[in-house]
Amino acid sequence: MKIAALKSTNSKDERSPIHPDTISMLLNLGVEIRFEEDIGNGINVNNKVFEELNLTKSSRKDCIKDSDLIITNQPLEISELSEIKPGASILGMVNPFSNKELIEGCASRKINLVSMEFIPRITRAQKMDVLSSQANLAGYVAVIESSRHLSTALPMMMTAAGTLKPAKVFVIGVGVAGLQAIATAKRLGARVEAFDTRDVVEEQVQSLGAKFVKIDLGETGETDQGYAKELTPEQIQKQKELQSKVCERSDIVITTAQLFGRPAPLLIDNNTIDKMSSGSVIFDMAVESGGNVEGSRPDEIIIRNGVKIIGISNLASKVAGHASLALSNNYNNWITDFFDEEKSKINFDFDDEIIQSSVLVYDGEIKNERFK
Ligand code: NAI
Repeated sequence: MKIAALKSTNSKDERSPIHPDTISMLLNLGVEIRFEEDIGNGINVNNKVFEELNLTKSSRKDCIKDSDLIITNQPLEISELSEIKPGASILGMVNPFSNKELIEGCASRKINLVSMEFIPRITRAQKMDVLSSQANLAGYVAVIESSRHLSTALPMMMTAAGTLKPAKVFVIGVGVAGLQAIATAKRLGARVEAFDTRDVVEEQVQSLGAKFVKIDLGETGETDQGYAKELTPEQIQKQKELQSKVCERSDIVITTAQLFGRPAPLLIDNNTIDKMSSGSVIFDMAVESGGNVEGSRPDEIIIRNGVKIIGISNLASKVAGHASLALSNNYNNWITDFFDEEKSKINFDFDDEIIQSSVLVYDGEIKNERFK
């Protein structure tokens, strides 16, 4: 089997789908691996390092043309599909909700499409879960970036020049990213509060030494995949009003609330922002999926009444080295688990829950119900 690893086409995404420290897992399968020239530029790994590991440097065109499995952190262009041989597979982060054309294009050209965003949330698949591996790092980055924009330090300091109070951080949405944001802010010495509509996370928040903010919104809860259920407009309104007080007293508010496959809920409006102190920071981690904060925009800092509203796309790419290490492990685990050594090819076994969920297109057919 010939595997090709592609460089990101997005200049804001410096991650690589392969990493020198994890590549042996694929090489041990006895496969041939080529990589797009300069794939490691964003993680300070030059072409030579990969060549010394027995990988072949190629142009993007040659990578695409001649491979059985293409691994990528970004969806391919539709125009590139005609270069891929029928029966080959694309595996990676393909942003399927905004890429119906890619799904249809793969089906019509009989290219198999594996969306790593659709790895099911079961224990066996955790090692392949790209959303979690990247959200974890993004949560860390959100705190570091927010703290850079504050004019005060995070920890309490008792000095001869006076006592410096700890910063107050409020995290809205306590999934993978939110938990890491809480842990990072705590490690830096901040006083942390957090809220999520899934009250099952209260204990996790407390175990990190943070305070869970109780807001009674009536019936909320989670789906069988562990994602939050969408709130009614009345519930969202109530949440906005009740959490406004917490925002007012916070130096940093980090919002992470997302709804899988749907736009993020708008949780902080101008009403709340206008009550916050000048110099405080709101970091909208959901900015790429619609935004939790009124006025936030990807890769911009909006200042409203002295409050900085920050949105950064491809957050995990800010720690591209670790993000690439984790991502490549996610991909390698998928490939290894479904690799048929005898036939040297992927075994698309649709009785397997992970295959059922992550393979959007197989043999000319759109398999995933959501995209049919
Ligand atoms: P996510 O990225 O979809 O959303 C982030 C957080 O925002 C979630 O905790 C969600 O409940 C919360 N949220 C949504 N609407 C909100 C609102 N209006 N106000 C406040 N918070 C709101 O979620 P993520 O991070 O992917 O994880 C969700 C859950 O799934 C977590 O408990 C996580 O531990 C679990 N999980 C389980 C996995 C497995 O079993 N393999 C793998 C990954 C996550």
